[in-house]
Amino acid sequence: MANQRAGILGTGHAYPEGILTNADLATMVETSDDWITTRTGIKQRRKANPDEYTSLFAVRAARKAIERARLDPSDIDLLLCATVTPDQILPSTGCIIQAELGANNAAAMDVVAACSGFLYGVSIANSMIQNGQSRYALVIGAEILTQYVDYTDRQTCVLFGDGAGAAVLGPVEGNRGILGAKIRSDGRYEEQLFSPGGGTRRRPTAETIAAGDHFFKMKGNELFKVAVRSMAEISRDVLQSAGLRTEDIDLFIPHQANQRITEAVADRLNIDSSKVYSNIAVHGNTSSASIPIALDECVGSGRVKDGDVVMMASFGGGVTWGGIVMRW
Ligand code: ACO
Repeated sequence: MANQRAGILGTGHAYPEGILTNADLATMVETSDDWITTRTGIKQRRKANPDEYTSLFAVRAARKAIERARLDPSDIDLLLCATVTPDQILPSTGCIIQAELGANNAAAMDVVAACSGFLYGVSIANSMIQNGQSRYALVIGAEILTQYVDYTDRQTCVLFGDGAGAAVLGPVEGNRGILGAKIRSDGRYEEQLFSPGGGTRRRPTAETIAAGDHFFKMKGNELFKVAVRSMAEISRDVLQSAGLRTEDIDLFIPHQANQRITEAVADRLNIDSSKVYSNIAVHGNTSSASIPIALDECVGSGRVKDGDVVMMASFGGGVTWGGIVMRW
């Protein structure tokens, strides 16, 4: 069926039990709870144990989303796992999750777009449902970022946490569902946030590992400005494409990177802080998992209600950015 409207039918999230507090970090690098709280809004983040891996949490989040959508894993025909911290190089984490779930009728793959990965996945799933290529799509954002964090670099080690969130998309009727979706990237900003080692360009050797080339490197100040600019811009674009204005938004879920980034974006868009969701204090930045975790928390707490206009916006390494607006 052409032009079928897609909506979110169920959500779920999961994360490791381990907690890394600001006080813990202050014993590892020269920092303080006060600095981290005032500069980022983060108080704690989840940290996986060495025997825990990305698909473990992805599967838990996905099972909840499928159950809440009142579907069976065999109903899923498209499975997209957004991650920059895959279980392994081959096969995709999507295929690993597929096997674990028994989602045997799905085409499974990974989406690599850093913190925008979940919105990239939603945008792709939306198009495939709209044009009839897919009926029920499972989109997951899952990360074990703490494995790629250099715990001697105080600028990055305070920011990142682990977790997974998932959403099942499917056909919806009436005026519900996704009203606008936009994704963008600009590879010229690669070095604002990257991990240079471990691939074919800078192959993993004892030397590259000893040099920490596989860890995230970040130009925090520059990224901050690009993040605010790109999230505000794509939010305006996606609202315009849906024929909506910022006043129409009931709930804004931005990528949780830094409380100051969230506030600056909301300020530029003139969205009242009461409509902006933030969980950065307890999760930190979980990259592609941040928006689906936040969305599922909003569903669970009744913060999002039927008929609400929900906007989500993200930016991440690449750089990539994206925006989705939907009526719940
Ligand atoms: N504790 C104490 N001091 C610190 C710390 C720390 N953890 N980190 C940096 N500092 C120091 C710096 O060394 C600097 O000291 P100096 O003035 O003596 O040189 C001072 O604090 C100020 O540093 P800035 O970098 O200017 O601090 P800023 O206010 O910009 O905050 C931060 C840094 C939090 C990294 C901010 O720039 C930011 O959040 N940027 C965006 C990062 C981001 O969102 N990254 C994720 C992208 S999404 C993805 O794809 C995963």
